[in-house]
Amino acid sequence: FKNSHHLEKVIIVWTANTERFANIIKGVNDTYQNLKNSIINNVAEIAPSTVYAYAAIQSQCTYINGSPQNTFVPGIIEMAELHNSFIAGDDFKTGQTKLKSVLVDFLVGAGIKPVSIASFNHLGNNDGKNLSAPLQFRSKEITKTNVVDDMVDSNKILYKKGEKPDHCVVIKYMPYVDDTKRAMDEYVSEILMNGIHTIAV
Ligand SMILES: NC(=O)c1ccc[n+]([C@@H]2O[C@H](COP(=O)([O-])OP(=O)(O)OC[C@H]3O[C@@H](n4cnc5c(N)ncnc54)[C@H](O)[C@@H]3O)[C@@H](O)[C@H]2O)c1
Repeated sequence: FKNSHHLEKVIIVWTANTERFANIIKGVNDTYQNLKNSIINNVAEIAPSTVYAYAAIQSQCTYINGSPQNTFVPGIIEMAELHNSFIAGDDFKTGQTKLKSVLVDFLVGAGIKPVSIASFNHLGNNDGKNLSAPLQFRSKEITKTNVVDDMVDSNKILYKKGEKPDHCVVIKYMPYVDDTKRAMDEYVSEILMNGIHTIAV
């Protein structure tokens, strides 16, 4: 492909469906060598996105993961380091999640302490149908939830060690709305003088 199109560089972006999280299993995907053997032996725990990542690294192509699952199992990370290959990405985080990271960064930076974040989504396309499966939803829930962790951990004045806001992510499949997905969020924060501050977006 690279040669026939006279390309200097190929970047591979995973935009296929969200997969469930792969289990990290000793002897299966924990090292580069074990992962290689597992792919050769067609071991079921190796996700398609991990096989694509493996092929990308082998071909010296950058690989970007646009979905939330843990494509980069330890064997892939070890392989990328050995091949000096660039791998990146943990879900695109383009819409609701991007807004959440910006908003929480702003609130925490302004000394306003988010204590409850409730996020609701519904969508009716194939992505929505796929995310209605519990294990695939879990992958999305993890990336949508951990986006606020760094901001919270960075502010030792607002949050005690280990303290986190309540954070709930709901995604429902509603075929009628098709591709016009909906996202609704409520942020409740503590402010001065025991005040409560609510933003609904
Ligand atoms: N659309 C967005 O705004 C958005 C934002 C953030 C993240 N994402 C994530 O990006 C991914 C794609 O979203 P979408 O809305 O384009 O989904 P989609 O369901 O419309 O498209 C996914 C495509 O991937 C194909 N596919 C599934 N498994 C495959 C495999 N093993 N190999 C090759 N192709 C495969 C499907 O046939 C389908 O054509 C999802 O993980 C989604 O959660 C999407």
